[in-house]
Amino acid sequence: MKTAAELAAEQAAYWNGPGGEGWLAAYQRIQRAIGEIGEVGLSAAAARAGEHVIDIGCGTGDTTAALARAVGLSGHVLGVDISEPLITAARAHRLDNATFAVGDAATHPFQAGHYDLVFSRFGVMFFADPVAAFRNIRRALKPQGRLVFVAWRTPQENPWGTTPTRAAQPFLPPQQRPGPEDPGQFSFGDRARVERILVEAGFGDLRFEPIDRQIWMGDSVAEVVAGAGRFGPLARAFAGAEPAAIERAKQAIAEVLAPHEKPDGVRLPGACWLVRASALPDRAHPARS
Ligand SMILES: C[S@@+](CC[C@H](N)C(=O)[O-])C[C@H]1O[C@@H](n2cnc3c(N)ncnc32)[C@H](O)[C@@H]1O
Repeated sequence: MKTAAELAAEQAAYWNGPGGEGWLAAYQRIQRAIGEIGEVGLSAAAARAGEHVIDIGCGTGDTTAALARAVGLSGHVLGVDISEPLITAARAHRLDNATFAVGDAATHPFQAGHYDLVFSRFGVMFFADPVAAFRNIRRALKPQGRLVFVAWRTPQENPWGTTPTRAAQPFLPPQQRPGPEDPGQFSFGDRARVERILVEAGFGDLRFEPIDRQIWMGDSVAEVVAGAGRFGPLARAFAGAEPAAIERAKQAIAEVLAPHEKPDGVRLPGACWLVRASALPDRAHPARS
């Protein structure tokens, strides 16, 4: 079993290497796929004029920019991301009331008790030690400060993410599969686990709401197949495969997606949690602060 330090180093290397590059290259498509879910999260976060906000795992900074518009010039947003290339892209927004920092949100020295709101769109599932990370995040919040994030539910509930990979797998070299609690896209699928993490980290008033959407994957199967392997688990599998095997894998993906091609594109079900919680003051859980 890998140590927390090894898992954290792996995530940092991934998001500063192929993960960050792939995310940037595919970002317009990604935004089309997840933009609406992000809007649900932003509207639940309800950032107000004058508030101080952190955007965790802010990536290219689109949600940071939306939060900055909401808090106005009397407020401020800090976008934090472990990926230098993504923070470089985020800085191009040139926002007057937001700053961006390259850093691990699990250990970043946030100003304690300063923030009204911590938000994240799919940026909190990659911590090697999630309790320690959320404790660090909780310390940044004012007492009763809000935590609002969206995270994917289980792989079984997210065929948009699993169907192409499963179809391709038989033709590709075997991959080491992450455990359900290893840092990764689907590591927050189990609600009970997320509840345990947040309570242990000093949050209360937990609210979980499911968000279920058909996730746009491309305008056509041909387009999805052309982009397959540019990002995520398939990119890792394609990297070690012969060209002929990749071709067979792509054919298998095309076959499994064909029934889902409709006039408005290829869509498969996706499922997220919208999670809301409040920071409890230290005295409410002295053993855990
Ligand atoms: C799935 S992407 C989401 C990016 C962005 N929130 C969006 O929705 O466009 C996950 C992001 O979390 C960042 N990330 C992963 N681990 C992190 C950590 N420990 N601290 C800060 N950011 C992290 C990655 O670099 C990546 O930008």
